[in-house]
Amino acid sequence: MTSLQDDTGAAEAALFPAGFRWGAATAAFQIEGAAAEGGRGPSIWDTFCRTPGKVLNGDTGDVAVDHYHRFREDVALMADLGLTAYRFSISWPRVRPDGAGAVNQEGLDFYRRLVDALLEAGVEPWPTLYHWDLPQPLEDAGGWPERETAHRFAEYAAHVHGALGDRVRNWMTVNEPWCGAFLGYASGEHAPGRREPSASLLAAHHMLLGHGLAVEAMRAERPGNRFGAAVNLYAVSAATDHEADVDAARRIDGLQNRLFLDPLLLGRYPEDVLADTAEHGFEPSEEDTRTIHQPLDQLGINYYTRHTVAGTPGEAAQTASSPFSTHSPWVGSEHVRFVPAGRPVTGMGWEIDERGLHEVLTRLHREYPAVPLYITENGAGYDEVPDGDGTVQDAGRIAYIDAHLRACRDAIAEGVPLRGYFTWSLLDNFEWAWGYSKRFGLVHVDYATQRRVPKASARWYADVIRRGGPAG
Ligand code: NOJ
Repeated sequence: MTSLQDDTGAAEAALFPAGFRWGAATAAFQIEGAAAEGGRGPSIWDTFCRTPGKVLNGDTGDVAVDHYHRFREDVALMADLGLTAYRFSISWPRVRPDGAGAVNQEGLDFYRRLVDALLEAGVEPWPTLYHWDLPQPLEDAGGWPERETAHRFAEYAAHVHGALGDRVRNWMTVNEPWCGAFLGYASGEHAPGRREPSASLLAAHHMLLGHGLAVEAMRAERPGNRFGAAVNLYAVSAATDHEADVDAARRIDGLQNRLFLDPLLLGRYPEDVLADTAEHGFEPSEEDTRTIHQPLDQLGINYYTRHTVAGTPGEAAQTASSPFSTHSPWVGSEHVRFVPAGRPVTGMGWEIDERGLHEVLTRLHREYPAVPLYITENGAGYDEVPDGDGTVQDAGRIAYIDAHLRACRDAIAEGVPLRGYFTWSLLDNFEWAWGYSKRFGLVHVDYATQRRVPKASARWYADVIRRGGPAG
């Protein structure tokens, strides 16, 4: 394979601090495939994909982009891009197929091989322990609304960390607990597809509790490793200055951002969110809240867009530019309408607003205790078709990432301790309820042949990394 890096612009000054992590991200269910191989058990997403009408075109993760068999080729791609870090997730049902019973050594061995290949290629491994693929037997026992699931998660985390903690320094526990809890258990758009508002709040709480218990267990074993969680944060604006709209913005900021940030970083749930959702009887104990509030070595931020919201007392929620296409409100959002603000959108229909990322970063710096920050996801999805010669000229993605990197750079210049950026995603992959119809990769994958071809954005990103930031 020819190098993706060239010599142009070598004289330009580095724009990001030395040691800044330049990465790309993926997740197990979205790329691995090999769903029935290596002792892997079924996850809630395997079941959901087989439920008619849940995933576009009935797509499944059975083969995905066959990363399980092609990981060496994928690591070579990363090295060629010059990535210094790679964020991936570990499949719980590959490691502990029943969720609670015996550990599957073959599963752990796969991740050991992957990690060793990364280290050999000079790419730092950044595993996430939960990226939505709950073992089906645990869902059969009640899923995340059950407290026991948090304990099973911590046990699984300790197993994985016990096997890899000698060579992997940076760990993320849960990915986007908002999606896992509210799309999974309230709106039902994601697995397991339940629509139980009260249960969804417990699911969110138990994901956070699982995070706390897992960090406790892993840190006890190796205090020198670094632990955090990856949350999806949004900039939130009121559509107008009217009181109802301003209150809608408070409500959505509470549910999307503060419901997760406050317990993780401040050790308490936001009072106004508890009041907004009081009818669901969610009363977290102080002891749980203390467990959630583990010292964090790093916080991962997944950022894609801004929400603009209006208050509509009595009306059902609708979405326009939100990053999930729900027509069903989730808990606490019933009196809010997501309205388009008129910005250009990506192929997902999500409004592009890089200043929102700057806002999220500076707000964290201002309102929360200092913690090293990483953008663990940021990117743009499109319905893309390659040119006749097989390449994808994804100018939209380049512009998106470029603008967001500049917003990061501005935030760093203002003192925000941002230490790395992982674009979503390395490869085109399974985009959940959208199946394979939306592509986020720097690298195009032909799903029929599994051939990987770097897009224009891959070459551009390689150049950014080599230079130490976007040009100019
Ligand atoms: C959020 C999720 O973590 C990831 O799995 C998903 O593919 C991207 N954002 C894009 O929707």
